[in-house]
Amino acid sequence: MNYRHAYHAGNFADVMKHMVLVALIDSMQQKATPFAYIDTHAGTGRYDLRGVEARKTGESDDGVAVLKTAVGLPPLLWKWLETVRACNEGDDTFRYYPGSPWIAAHLMRENDTAQLCELHSTDVGLLRQQFHQDKRVHVHHRDGYEALKALVPPKEKRGLVLIDPPFEQQEAEFRVIEKALAAAMGKWPTGIFAVWYPIKMRSHVQPFHRWLAKSGAKRVLAAEVLLHPADSSLRLNGSGVVIVNAPWKLDDTLRDSLRLLPKLLGQQGEAEYRLTWLVEEGKDPTPMHTAHPPRSLPKR
Ligand SMILES: C[S@@+](CC[C@H](N)C(=O)[O-])C[C@H]1O[C@@H](n2cnc3c(N)ncnc32)[C@H](O)[C@@H]1O
Repeated sequence: MNYRHAYHAGNFADVMKHMVLVALIDSMQQKATPFAYIDTHAGTGRYDLRGVEARKTGESDDGVAVLKTAVGLPPLLWKWLETVRACNEGDDTFRYYPGSPWIAAHLMRENDTAQLCELHSTDVGLLRQQFHQDKRVHVHHRDGYEALKALVPPKEKRGLVLIDPPFEQQEAEFRVIEKALAAAMGKWPTGIFAVWYPIKMRSHVQPFHRWLAKSGAKRVLAAEVLLHPADSSLRLNGSGVVIVNAPWKLDDTLRDSLRLLPKLLGQQGEAEYRLTWLVEEGKDPTPMHTAHPPRSLPKR
């Protein structure tokens, strides 16, 4: 296991993924009853953007750093940015970037709970350190895919799973996710499952989308931001999140913020966003129904 998220924290993919996470937590909190958050690949929880790893790649310079001075952000991006600000205790230099566990714990209410899985022995130590005083948060040093089977359905009966693997082996990881998802959805058909995926070649993503369309799930939304055409396996061209059992009107909640990201973070004429229902309740899953046509947007 070579992957360390500290090299990539706060990059454009993190911005997009965490914006979706904020929207999902918000939707869970529309009801007063507690929910469970399950993070199968949690990372360390918080990242030092002045650390050796982050400075080596400088990826956050093209992600969170661009957004921190943006004005007139739509409500969802604004809420995500406020979370980053909270992680920095108001220090606008944004030294720290919150990972998914930090964002979830920050937004969770007193009775909401989090189950965090991390396999890397150093990273799980850092994660434990982050949350050792938070009784709502439980850290597991174990394989997130294995743990998922045991953790669903949670006792709260409502909740959200984030599956955010390192994708060290591009196409193979999709097959592992499909297997884990099939088992988890079988045990918990009403759970919300969000899966992050890198977009390099479109042809790597399509089989996963086709699998989801036939998975039996009733509502599956795919949100993507592409900074470059999806035609090279040599670079991260885009970032995607699919949401199984997507909450009602999630597409409307995401749209304005998703639309702005390529404009702020991408190259003129190359960047675009996509918001696509892979399965929409009451509609035939094939051919796929696009909730909003793909668009290219010029850089501001
Ligand atoms: C992309 S990072 C997670 C980032 C985090 N979800 C966030 O948004 O801040 C993937 C993490 O998964 C860990 N990991 C890799 N394989 C794993 C497995 N089978 N089970 C649990 N964690 C794993 C890696 O050590 C790494 O910290």
